[in-house]
Amino acid sequence: MRRAFRASLLHCLDDPADDPSAIHWTADGWLVVEDGRIAELQDATVGERPSADEHIELPGRWLVPGFVDTHVHYPQTDMIAAHGSQLLDWLERYTFPTEARFSDPAVARNTARFFIDELLANGTTTALVFATAHRASVEAIFTEAQRHGLRLIAGQVLMDRNAPEALTGGAERAIRESDELIQAWHGRGRLGYAITPRFAPTSSDAQLHATGRLLDAHRHRHGGVHLHTHLAENPDEVRWVAELFPDDRDYLAVYERHHLVGPRSVFAHCLHLEQDAWQRLGSAGASVAHCPCSNLFIGSGLFDLASADRHDVTVGLGTDVGGGDSFSLLRVINEAYKVQQLQGQVLSPDRAFYLATLGGARALDLHHRIGSFAIGNEADFLVLQPQATPLMARRHRSTVDWRDQLFALMMLGDDRVIEQVRLMGEPVRLRGRDALAGQEAGQEA
Ligand code: GUN
Ligand code: ZN
Repeated sequence: MRRAFRASLLHCLDDPADDPSAIHWTADGWLVVEDGRIAELQDATVGERPSADEHIELPGRWLVPGFVDTHVHYPQTDMIAAHGSQLLDWLERYTFPTEARFSDPAVARNTARFFIDELLANGTTTALVFATAHRASVEAIFTEAQRHGLRLIAGQVLMDRNAPEALTGGAERAIRESDELIQAWHGRGRLGYAITPRFAPTSSDAQLHATGRLLDAHRHRHGGVHLHTHLAENPDEVRWVAELFPDDRDYLAVYERHHLVGPRSVFAHCLHLEQDAWQRLGSAGASVAHCPCSNLFIGSGLFDLASADRHDVTVGLGTDVGGGDSFSLLRVINEAYKVQQLQGQVLSPDRAFYLATLGGARALDLHHRIGSFAIGNEADFLVLQPQATPLMARRHRSTVDWRDQLFALMMLGDDRVIEQVRLMGEPVRLRGRDALAGQEAGQEA
């Protein structure tokens, strides 16, 4: 099956911070998809229209790669927007009780279903996801992602201390179950496994040691499993880690000592790091999930993108729901922009767009498959309506060029902008909307 889509096209082939010409805009273009992959891009104002079984015209719409959420907790869907706490208190008050409910597989299945619908409605086509300490929570999210054909990496949360017994009991079993889940799910279709110690305070040295061994054992399986955890999110957390691990020079050193820091390691937050730790993350080839909605919502701090850049650390964006208060990568971009403003740094529209697409793909080491319209990539893409609301339409009319339009779209947009989502070229039914709403606006099928 070969389909050609006509609209404005936008994608990045590299980081615009390194190469300003790496962002590619075509005001009127054809995106040709064949058997689920990007086959061709063409300027529609020159030459013949491309050959295809079907031509779909989407006037006024933008086609962009699907968004990548590099850090999100699906079990926290029901506690999003919880009032009044910072990290450690928030975990005790809201998070652990909510996650304990996932001992019931029916809760896991029901939440997984809602969560995947929410990702898709917000244009997220790939995500790195925390489950809970329960094996069935991982099975539920993988099952649901597979049903939709969504690219998703997830893992069972490992904890053996400093949390309720219901979530820390059976620590050895959790390592064994992680191993079994890797064998069962990693590399199956579009799914991948992330070994997921919650964060240093909830794991003993013995558990982190076992985690490192598990990671090593699966380092080469289907490109390697991921390592997914939190790092230096909150000042009280950082002090607590120093007390719990007095022999380690800093927080990152705890993970380093257990061989958890490498090219497929993703560390969420990284707000309170010294330059030396940034340098070590960079030279290890590790990635960071920048989660500004969460960092502002639970009052954790401001992410220093300039330091990440200085040390060549790969950065993606994360919603961090339920610490984050939105599933929309557009809302995350909006807050990321403001976080840089507060530090006298300017996040360009090009870079912000890159971070939500190819940057996220790189952070997950999936950039050879997703994140751009490179020929041969998997055709996960969005149809955006840049004039989705009366205010956006009004602002759009006074824009001077596509970059101005892009910035306004990212600052004002949310799920209302996401008109259509396609996974491997196939339309996805969005909750409460007709999956082909964008096509109805087109002229020709
Ligand atoms: N640190 C340890 N666990 C969590 C969590 O669930 N959310 C956030 N934001 N930080 C954490
Ligand atoms: Zn998190």
